[in-house]
Amino acid sequence: MNKTARVCAMAGVILTMSGCGGDAPDRKEAAVGEVPAAQEPAQTAAATQASASGAPPRAFMQCRTCHSAEPGRQGIGPSLHGIIGRNAASTAGFSFSPALKASGITWDRESLNTWLEAPVKMVPGTRMVMGVRNEERRSAILDYLETLD
Ligand code: HEC
Repeated sequence: MNKTARVCAMAGVILTMSGCGGDAPDRKEAAVGEVPAAQEPAQTAAATQASASGAPPRAFMQCRTCHSAEPGRQGIGPSLHGIIGRNAASTAGFSFSPALKASGITWDRESLNTWLEAPVKMVPGTRMVMGVRNEERRSAILDYLETLD
């Protein structure tokens, strides 16, 4: 767009705005009224569902204290990248408990579900002591872990 055309376009916008001045208050009220109704269901869903963008669900926030989803990034717990299909305690660069190393578990949705419900019950002697009692939250976490391959 050359300079003359841009000036003409701007003049057009200003003319349009001043021409519509009369009904502006009505439109503003309608827009404000729509917002709360649209936000409510979205916030409820965020607690238990992974978002379409692959962002972690809120239920995973408690895991993040100890676990990263990035490959090779170890914290208090091992990275959970690519955990589905892997043998327990096989991530390189993390010092696992003898109990988890000897467990013989392969992580799939079912074994992870049992683990997350009560790690110490599944593998006595593990260093991960926190479980997730709520089934919906576990399910949201498992959906998310499946995206980390
Ligand atoms: C307080 C720290 C802590 C929190 C919070 C925590 N974990 Fe862990 N997690 C660990 C540790 C430490 C291990 C290693 C356990 C061992 O070696 O016995 C582990 C191991 C695991 C493993 C097995 C990894 C492997 O390679 O075999 C999975 C899967 C796992 N955690 C998932 C989760 C999920 C999902 C959450 C959130 C609900 C979570 N953890 C919360 C500390 C934590």
